[in-house]
Amino acid sequence: MSRSVPRVPAVATPFLLALTLALTLTACSGPGGAHGTPGSAGVADPYFPKAGNGGYDVTHYALTLAYTPDTSGTSGTSDTSTPLTGTATITARATQNLSAYDLDLKGMKVNSLTVDGKNAPWTRTGQELKVRPASTLPKGKTFRTTVRYSGTPETLTDPDGSEEGWLPTADGALALGEPTGSMAWFPGNDHPSDKATYDITITVPKGLQAVSNGELSTERTTGAGRTTTYTWRTTRPMATYLATVAIGHYDITRTTTKNGLPVYVAVDPREAAASREVLAKIPEIMEWEEYNFGPYPFSSTGAIVDRRGDAGYALETQTRPFFPGAPDTATLVHELAHQWYGDSVTPKTWRDMWLNEGFATYAEWLWSEDHDGDTAQQTFDALYKGDYYDNKADSDAIWAFPPANPTSAAHISDRPVYERGAMVLHKIRQTVGDARFYDIVQGWTAAHRYGNADTADFTAYVEKMAPGKDFSVIWKNWLYGDGKPARP
Ligand code: TRP
Ligand code: ZN
Repeated sequence: MSRSVPRVPAVATPFLLALTLALTLTACSGPGGAHGTPGSAGVADPYFPKAGNGGYDVTHYALTLAYTPDTSGTSGTSDTSTPLTGTATITARATQNLSAYDLDLKGMKVNSLTVDGKNAPWTRTGQELKVRPASTLPKGKTFRTTVRYSGTPETLTDPDGSEEGWLPTADGALALGEPTGSMAWFPGNDHPSDKATYDITITVPKGLQAVSNGELSTERTTGAGRTTTYTWRTTRPMATYLATVAIGHYDITRTTTKNGLPVYVAVDPREAAASREVLAKIPEIMEWEEYNFGPYPFSSTGAIVDRRGDAGYALETQTRPFFPGAPDTATLVHELAHQWYGDSVTPKTWRDMWLNEGFATYAEWLWSEDHDGDTAQQTFDALYKGDYYDNKADSDAIWAFPPANPTSAAHISDRPVYERGAMVLHKIRQTVGDARFYDIVQGWTAAHRYGNADTADFTAYVEKMAPGKDFSVIWKNWLYGDGKPARP
């Protein structure tokens, strides 16, 4: 609307002309008299061009959800079933004079939408929910969008074939968001570059639990005793893909680490026996990771363990990593390491995934080295020689593409991002020695705590921290180069 050219009658009296101009100005200007343009439908991510949206920066999500697992036996396929109802209040700051803007939301029915309390029209195309506020939001203004929505949230399939979004489980449901699954269960700016704080309130039938990120601030009986409402609070910035809710029956264990950090662990009772020993290591792993990576960035930790078939992978959901079935120690070390590398320091785009997975994988190698297992050098050598995996296809897969440049969205979780990413870190360690390496590893998380960083930020940081050292061959052959580097 604000883009349309003012229509001036062909034969206009001065009065009509003035009136037309005045109306046009009111229609497309905010308090500052600014003309707005629509925010872009996507933030030009090289792998997920429609993910996220331009023109604003979210500071806070307040999500109020009510979930009733479908027990009717029709598995939620009917259009009229509404297992999930939600209200999302999204506080954001306009980064341009904004006449319209998009939120990402896939599926679900939008029932109403307001901007700063006033009804606003919206349209939907694919994952884009386009909002037209009544007047242009001037650059710098903080505004609130409230979306009421309901329906059966979708399970989405990633380009790599894995499932994300909303995953029904035997006794409830599970929300996992990497890379673009959060849009299945709440509207927002679904891109890692826009981090925000969260309050997530979930009402579930009495007898079920709802676990999420951060700290549980209240748990109360609601709905005349028929429901329980849990409110979780995330006070440190979190990327949308790291937000989670897990609804079901869980054995809950609340402890603290030696430093007094709360540990909240939720385990599906069927996984309890198999999980007990490994999850008891969380405090010890946290201490080891703090010693190696620097102060833990968040105010609680823990884990969520569901059943093996509930998801196809573990995920570093912020403060409370998710595991499909009892994890092994290496996987627990990996997901907890992501709290520093990925969750606190988050990639600017999905191209920078290796900064997450390379570090989390290298954390596994370091853990092994420090606990009487293979040294990182041994792991590196085995991968280079090709006898780390017992088949050639897996061994060769490491060299399929350079870690800093996955071939496509379908490959951002492939071997080169994980193992070859870790090999890049090991090459840096070989170049600078252990003392400087740990300075880099800790300094990097301190320099970008709660923020975003990309590969260029990382290479510049390493060079700054090791003056006089030459990394050009590592960057050229190991980080950006095609194929297997000629020398280890
Ligand atoms: N990040 C997860 C891990 O800890 C793996 C993962 C799950 C993933 N879903 C993904 C990676 C989607 C890339 C894209 O290793
Ligand atoms: Zn990982």
